[in-house]
Amino acid sequence: MNVCSVFKLNLFAGKVAIVTGGGTGIGATITQELAHLGCDVVIASRSEEKLRHAAEKFNSNPKLTGKVSYIPCNVRKEDQVKNLMHTVVKQFGKIDFLVNNSGGQFFCPAEEISKKGWNAVIDTNLTGTFLCCQHAFQSWMGENGGTIVNIIANMWRGFPVFCHTGAARSAVDNLTKTLALEWADKGIRINSVAPGTIYSETAAANYPRDIFSEAIKLQPTGRLGGPEEISGIVCFLLSPAAAFLTGETVKVDGAESLYKCLLQIPMHNQLPAWKWDKSKL
Ligand code: ADE
Repeated sequence: MNVCSVFKLNLFAGKVAIVTGGGTGIGATITQELAHLGCDVVIASRSEEKLRHAAEKFNSNPKLTGKVSYIPCNVRKEDQVKNLMHTVVKQFGKIDFLVNNSGGQFFCPAEEISKKGWNAVIDTNLTGTFLCCQHAFQSWMGENGGTIVNIIANMWRGFPVFCHTGAARSAVDNLTKTLALEWADKGIRINSVAPGTIYSETAAANYPRDIFSEAIKLQPTGRLGGPEEISGIVCFLLSPAAAFLTGETVKVDGAESLYKCLLQIPMHNQLPAWKWDKSKL
């Protein structure tokens, strides 16, 4: 991962951020850029071993002036989310920023998704985000203010083979608006970022089909996005430059959402035909 940022060095010196899923993929680039700007970052996800490995890698990079530490947390478990927020307040004295980046889904046509699979994806992507926001509020931000960014997806035109995560991410877009209104008087800003098709090795290893090669054909920009193209927007939303921005979702997708959804729908003749009278044309 290259360390680069357009922001002023030490912009976030003295700040404390929690980044869920902050050790891999897009989350890792967010962690890296925050630490590059002087922010102390706590990364949180389920595997302690992966977190330790990621934190060691970040902390061995001399370009990162902020320190990266970790707390294992399954965002589906409320007691673990509560522990994450309480521990950060205890260890660092505050939570300035929360980035809800943890997410997970599996490739599956809607008719084949089990209730268990559906619930797991809703729990991680929607309920997990809600719990992190709620417990960050209760532990610190409700009394002291703070800034939250939720990472969602390009689900605006539907999300074939990912209907579970499409529904959850769409709900987070709405949650973002509601919390921006409910918590404005507490000094909390909350926004979302909706990445388009972003290539990461973690994501590629996760899907049975090469959806990245399929998706590239539908990109107005002629290319996929990179994780570093998301972290800059997240840092902007966390920064004072975005002080008047709340309740918004920023699409970072190279205009993909204006054009098509992720995958091409097969041609077919399964719906009733429209019978027109050619003589009237
Ligand atoms: N990343 C994917 N699933 C997660 C979960 N349940 N908790 C935290 N991070 C995750």
